Order: sequence, then C-alpha cells, then structure tokens
Amino acid sequence: MQRLPEPELMVDPAQVLAYAAADFSGGDQRTLDRIEALLSSASGRAASDPAVILDLGCGPGNISLPLAKRFPESQVIGVDGSRAMLQVARDRANQQGLSIDLRCSTLQDLALEPVDLIVSNSLLHHLHEPGLLWGLTRELAAPGCRVLHRDLRRPAALAEVHRLQQLHCFDAPAVLIQDFCASLVAAFTPEEVQQQLALAELDGLTVEMEDDRYLVVSGLVD
Ligand SMILES: C[S@@+](CC[C@H](N)C(=O)[O-])C[C@H]1O[C@@H](n2cnc3c(N)ncnc32)[C@H](O)[C@@H]1O
Repeated sequence: MQRLPEPELMVDPAQVLAYAAADFSGGDQRTLDRIEALLSSASGRAASDPAVILDLGCGPGNISLPLAKRFPESQVIGVDGSRAMLQVARDRANQQGLSIDLRCSTLQDLALEPVDLIVSNSLLHHLHEPGLLWGLTRELAAPGCRVLHRDLRRPAALAEVHRLQQLHCFDAPAVLIQDFCASLVAAFTPEEVQQQLALAELDGLTVEMEDDRYLVVSGLVD
C-alpha cells in the first residue's frame, strides 16, 4: 500500500482534545519500559541517568511527563509545534508538580545543544520528510546518546488498516478513529525505516517490530 502523508502538526482543537482524553497508557508504558531497558542495557558504558532528555513531538506529555517523574535530576525537554498540545502538557505538568522544559517549535526550526537521550512516540509517521527525524537524531546526539523512536508501521493493504481499527480502535470517538486509520496509512514500513537509517548513517540504531502495528528504532549514536 502506498504511503499517504497526513498533516504534520496536530492543531485542530477537537483533535487535540480527543487525543489528550484518549487512554494510550498501555502503549505509553511499553515505550517507557523500552527506554528503561535501553538505559540499563549493556552498552560498554557505565549506565547512568541521562543528564538531558529530549522528547520530540511530545504532544500532551504522555511520555515526557513520566520521564520527568522517573528522572527528577535530568532536564527533560519536550518539543512540539502545536501550541494546543503543549498547553495540555503544561497544565498536566503543573498539576503533577513536575519540572519540564516545554518548547513550542517545529522540528524544522529546532535549535538545541546536544542531549543524552532522544525519544519520540508516534511522531515519525507525521513527518513528510522522514530524514528530518534522522538528521536531528544525529545532530542533537551527545557522544554515547541513546535513542528510542517508537511509531506505527504501515500495513501492506487497506483491508489490514480496517482490521486493526476494528481490533484496537473500535469504539473510540470518530475523530480518533479517523486519526488512527490516517496514521497507519501515513506510517513507514520497517524496510523503509532501515533505508532511512542507512542513508543517515545511523549504524548503531536497529529497527524491530512490536506486536501487530508498531515499530521501534533504538540504540546508540556514537
Ligand atoms: C501523535 S502525536 C504524539 C504525541 C506524544 N508523543 C504521545 O506519545 O502521545 C504527534 C505529535 O507530533 C507533533 N508534530 C508532528 N510533526 C511535527 C513537527 N514537524 N514539528 C514539531 N512537532 C510535530 C504533533 O503536533 C503532535 O503533537
């Protein structure tokens, strides 16, 4: 099935509200568990908490907020180009008393000092030009930076999109069902991501499939 990109930023108020209200806790926890495993994996380096953590396309803070809670000594930076999404993240951080550095910027305009851990969850499929994520990953990685990008993967056929929607997003609000299907069609296949990594010379990153609809890119950037 051919890829059909969707808009990059999530700025429509109904879409933002529905996304922020949805329960993604199962998938979010899998991302957090993978980050934990990555940080404690034998990498030839002494495992230590990352000083600066960057969550790209942080949205309402589903991943950045738990990271700020888990790593209170780290600087957690959440970046998103959607003001509406960041406002939800800001409100939640305040409610939970969490210190987090939330920045409204597109990835295209992002300027930061190098960081020690780069993550994203459900971001890659939004990007019209995926090389943007891999270029930033390389550019913003401090030596030994660990990386974890988790996203949907594109099914082979539209029938599979509908099967996955029936299975995982059956009784969600219409706007979320629409988003879920559009996201699957906009996503990349593991093979495409392998090619993107090769092009970006990110040899320390590997791609693996997770359950019936996700892919995970993780590893070290030296
Ligand atoms: C599906 S949401 C994921 C949010 C969050 N990471 C999570 O796990 O729930 C994708 C987010 O990426 C943001 N985004 C997409 N393209 C972007 C870009 N080029 N620059 C900055 N943010 C972007 C959108 O605005 C949206 O908030």
